[in-house]
Amino acid sequence: MAEIKFKTWLTETFGCKYPIIQGGLGYLSDAELAAAVSNAGCLGTVTTYQYRTKERVQEEIRKAKELTSKPFGANVNLFPAVSQVDTKAIAEVVAEEKVAFIETAGRAPEAWLIDLMHGAGIKLIHKMPAVRFALHAEKSGVDAITMIAFEGGGHPGMEEVAGMVLIPRAVDSVKIPVIAAGGISDGRGLVAALSLGAQGVLMGTRFMATKECKIHENLKRRLVEANENETMIIDRAIRSSRRVLRNATAERVLGLQQLDASLQHQLTFMGGEVSKKLWQDGQLDTGVIACGQSVGLVGDIPSVAELVQRIVAQASQVLQNLQSRVSL
Ligand SMILES: Cc1cc2nc3c(=O)[nH]c(=O)nc-3n(C[C@H](O)[C@H](O)[C@H](O)COP(=O)(O)O)c2cc1C
Repeated sequence: MAEIKFKTWLTETFGCKYPIIQGGLGYLSDAELAAAVSNAGCLGTVTTYQYRTKERVQEEIRKAKELTSKPFGANVNLFPAVSQVDTKAIAEVVAEEKVAFIETAGRAPEAWLIDLMHGAGIKLIHKMPAVRFALHAEKSGVDAITMIAFEGGGHPGMEEVAGMVLIPRAVDSVKIPVIAAGGISDGRGLVAALSLGAQGVLMGTRFMATKECKIHENLKRRLVEANENETMIIDRAIRSSRRVLRNATAERVLGLQQLDASLQHQLTFMGGEVSKKLWQDGQLDTGVIACGQSVGLVGDIPSVAELVQRIVAQASQVLQNLQSRVSL
């Protein structure tokens, strides 16, 4: 079957073959994963949050440049709780290194950040879960937006709107390009998102379940076994809903939140360092890890290149099947 040729804002702007972004994955999307995604014809993203210092961020971006000549981006976390990091210094180093794009999330990027990126010729794609934030981001001058639907891993918003509604609502509401995220993991999701008017898709959970992602084998096996009901929302009580893989710690944290326990106490169970025991050491009930409902569609652990080829082949098949079922 002939491979689809994509022509969307993403492929035209960055010169990549496929309109697929690997979203920021705190602690997990390093130079190797990002480069593998870009080498596979998509757009990889190095998450800067975990490196803490501008020197380490620079080192990781340079490592990615050694591993790929293709475009890739950097995720800069703007969540208010991320106080250990000097966001300005990190953003400056990202601008100096001239990555292809920056992905921001957590709160609207301020004018200084947008100006810094545009001055360096870098596109700024802001990721958020609600149309009202999209309108604000468009006004402030970002180049494109990624809408995270409620199915998504990480922070899918407080308003709980699923992708089938959120994506077309965003497409109808702004003039800048919209990228669809949340619940997308295969060729069917890609074609569906394009049908809804998106210029491409962003995936997180599916890229976590690949050979190149450095999570423990126990967690990879857990992702393969889990079905779509095995995620849960925590942190709603602190107005920062987070979709994570269901485990004993996530249940415990949710219980504590219902009892109004202090954030400090909750962090002893789910802070970044304790959660490393889950993804790094494979202790599946210790700590929490973001995970989307699309985990129910994860059936194996392919390499990134195999995964991308499979998605594109399935998208071609879906289009062909559609043509046999509907006609103009
Ligand atoms: C393990 C994991 C870690 C994540 N870490 C971040 C992060 O540090 N910064 C961020 O902006 N988004 C983060 N996300 C969200 C993803 O970039 C993306 O928006 C989301 O995974 C899309 O939904 P999906 O999981 O259904 O594909 C994370 C997601 C996962 C699964």
